[in-house]
Amino acid sequence: MTETATVVELAKRRGYFFQSSRAYGGVSGFYTYGPQGAALKENIEDTWRERFTLKEGNFEVDAPIVMPEPVFEASGHLDGFDDMLVECPECHASHRADHIIEDNTGIEEAESLPIPEVENLLAEHELTCPNCGADLAGQAIEEFNLMFQTSIGPGSSQPGYLRPETAQGIFVEFPQLKEYARNQLPFGVTQIGPAYRNEISPRKSLLRLREFTQAELELFIDPEEDEPALDVVRDVEAPLYSAEMQESDDGEPVTMAIGDAVDEGIISDAWVAYYLGLAKQWYTRIGIDMEKFRFRQHLPGELAHYAADCWDAEALVDGDWIELAGFANRGDYDLSKHGSYSDEDFTLFKQYDEPKHVERATVDPDMSYLGPEFGGAAADIGEALQTLAERDRSAFDGDSVEVEVDGEAYEIPSEHVNFEVSEETEAGEHIVPHVIEPSFGVDRALYTVVHHAYREDEVEGEERSYLALKPEVAPTFVGVFPLTSKDGLPETAQSVATELRERGLSVAYDDSGSIGRRYRRQDEVGTPFCVTLDADPEGTATIRERDSTEQVRVDLDELADVLTALRTGERTFDTL
Ligand code: GAP
Repeated sequence: MTETATVVELAKRRGYFFQSSRAYGGVSGFYTYGPQGAALKENIEDTWRERFTLKEGNFEVDAPIVMPEPVFEASGHLDGFDDMLVECPECHASHRADHIIEDNTGIEEAESLPIPEVENLLAEHELTCPNCGADLAGQAIEEFNLMFQTSIGPGSSQPGYLRPETAQGIFVEFPQLKEYARNQLPFGVTQIGPAYRNEISPRKSLLRLREFTQAELELFIDPEEDEPALDVVRDVEAPLYSAEMQESDDGEPVTMAIGDAVDEGIISDAWVAYYLGLAKQWYTRIGIDMEKFRFRQHLPGELAHYAADCWDAEALVDGDWIELAGFANRGDYDLSKHGSYSDEDFTLFKQYDEPKHVERATVDPDMSYLGPEFGGAAADIGEALQTLAERDRSAFDGDSVEVEVDGEAYEIPSEHVNFEVSEETEAGEHIVPHVIEPSFGVDRALYTVVHHAYREDEVEGEERSYLALKPEVAPTFVGVFPLTSKDGLPETAQSVATELRERGLSVAYDDSGSIGRRYRRQDEVGTPFCVTLDADPEGTATIRERDSTEQVRVDLDELADVLTALRTGERTFDTL
């Protein structure tokens, strides 16, 4: 079995995750988290929330999943959120053309290639349908929009879409959210929740889903003034794979400190660099193996329609690099778009330190002259005069002013224009904030955590497989076992389990089978510690650590404190 097949089998058998709706044949791209998986997911989300919401002083929102069509007209998803679909001429299975190319040639990031080139590559490499082997040469590639459409209310008069990213639920509420931030930049808004993409060919278990969970942070900044606290992450070392490194023949990722990468221009955006540093720390914390991790910059053709620059966090899983998160500078794209498509104000008033005195050029065209003279064009001429006044005051120096409307020139005598330059005091200006966006996939993080935690070894001559999950995210923190069913041990063990639960620890009580079997069961789901109650000496218990299988004996009345300290990281097992 491949490592992936082993992990996926374990995940299903031990309640991590499995394909949904199996009773009805299952649907690709939809997965259910079992008891272990749901707890692991929640723990991962909690650590993300703690790091990216609470510790950063941001606030979290919870927006609806269904949003009306105009949102996605403005965001660009209706027009530009497509994948390359190729249909097999024989079995009619649908495939992503870029994936077929990546899987069968040495070409990477085929997604960034233009469609005619992808069509040529299918023919050139004689690529075939992964399902039935039919030749795909000459098959046309279609742009397939990934959004799930629905109808809001009865009938189909109001189309809606399931959000393809949680981000839009934040952007559309900016006019309200800026009030909560007291109109002060920078401020960050986070959201953890489901997103939906009608993927052409969902694959690799949790890696490409049709329903998945994102944890996104939208940081609104004034690009001219706001700077990140780069010193917080200046010394964080990370493997960086810039676009330039990828494009050079022997380019390899380089591990360097985030601060140095900014100083040397490898990461050009200090905000993106800041979040790469935080993300590296967070991924380490939840248990991603840093030997199998890198940050990769997007190649120019790979950038999303809204992004000026973007880096991905990537992890190596069973030989393939997979994208875990994206860190983009979205510029003013989103707020400008929603500002121009809606009637709301997506700008923010930026107060100057000192009021500014400015000269303003205005016109007050004499409509009783323009109307009779120019008929239907009069209003447009009035507007063109104002635009010209703002752009070029010297145009008003002569006896007449010339403006162009719809390609036709009009000459207006100066006495009917009423041009004037007046002095005004301005307290500030309206700006469209820019957006820095770290966008994390929770399912991919969870899948990678489980993969990277998978271990096999031998204990007392017996093969063992276990998940070396970090105690902070492990679904169950401690297993509690009575050694035997005699001497009141089950009752004592039950009351220990209750006490530990009251202390907020997640506990699995198990009294069936040999102690060895019970340890193996907990090892396999990644429980970091097991407590066994035995009768001798009275009033004590052993704590066994999963990875080393070592045991220490502690007094029962200290047990809860010791385990709590192990959970918070105040103590480590080897110091007990
Ligand atoms: N708001 C930006 C955005 O959505 P993205 O790179 O398309 O950016 C962010 O998505 C993250 O969401 C990805 O890095 C990945 O972890 C996760 N993701 C995207 N599509 C996914 C899918 N079909 N299945 C599972 N996770 C997915």
